[in-house]
Amino acid sequence: MFKSTCCVAAVALVAASATVAQTAPVSTPSKSAAPTVASKPVQRADSTPQGQLKNPYSVNDAAIVASGAKLYQGAACSGCHGGTGGGGICPPLTDGVWIYGGDDDTLFRLVAYGSQTLQSKGYSRKAQENVVAPMPAMGEVVATDDDLWRILTFIRAQYHGPAECKFGCPAKADGQ
Ligand code: HEC
Repeated sequence: MFKSTCCVAAVALVAASATVAQTAPVSTPSKSAAPTVASKPVQRADSTPQGQLKNPYSVNDAAIVASGAKLYQGAACSGCHGGTGGGGICPPLTDGVWIYGGDDDTLFRLVAYGSQTLQSKGYSRKAQENVVAPMPAMGEVVATDDDLWRILTFIRAQYHGPAECKFGCPAKADGQ
């Protein structure tokens, strides 16, 4: 039952946000990978080797978390994942279950590319939550890589799963 509602509401939300986003100027791709130069999220992901995207912000920085909360609402993430990321018609973002992994690199790419493109780039499903549906690509809705890091900082600040799973649960020792 969750399955179908998740994406119906979402499509409308994403479409509304995407229309707004399209009016923003599309910057020419920057060759610089310096973190101080803003990039679109997809450009940043494409230009950074896998595994190396790292959130520059701390969950203890209240101003960043607050700005991330606003951006999270503005990008319509809340329509699917709930106002504080605890899950709604789509999976929770704040528990210890990470569908593709809980590290910064994987989460950045998942939001920028969406789950289908992420998987086409070699990332695989490790777990599943109460809802299994594709996560749309939000890399055009979230304007910059900096905005996306702020959103991810907000999500991390809401985390309430087991401490050892905050960035992905430790792999089980070999042989179980
Ligand atoms: C159309 C509804 C929808 C919207 C809008 C949406 N998501 Fe998702 N999101 C999903 C679904 C569905 C999944 C699960 C994907 C899967 O199972 O493969 C997901 C998964 C995730 C995950 C991984 C959760 C985990 O437990 O591993 C994160 C993080 C995430 N979304 C962040 C965001 C952010 C940030 C935004 C806004 C920029 C956003 N999502 C917008 C539907 C949505």
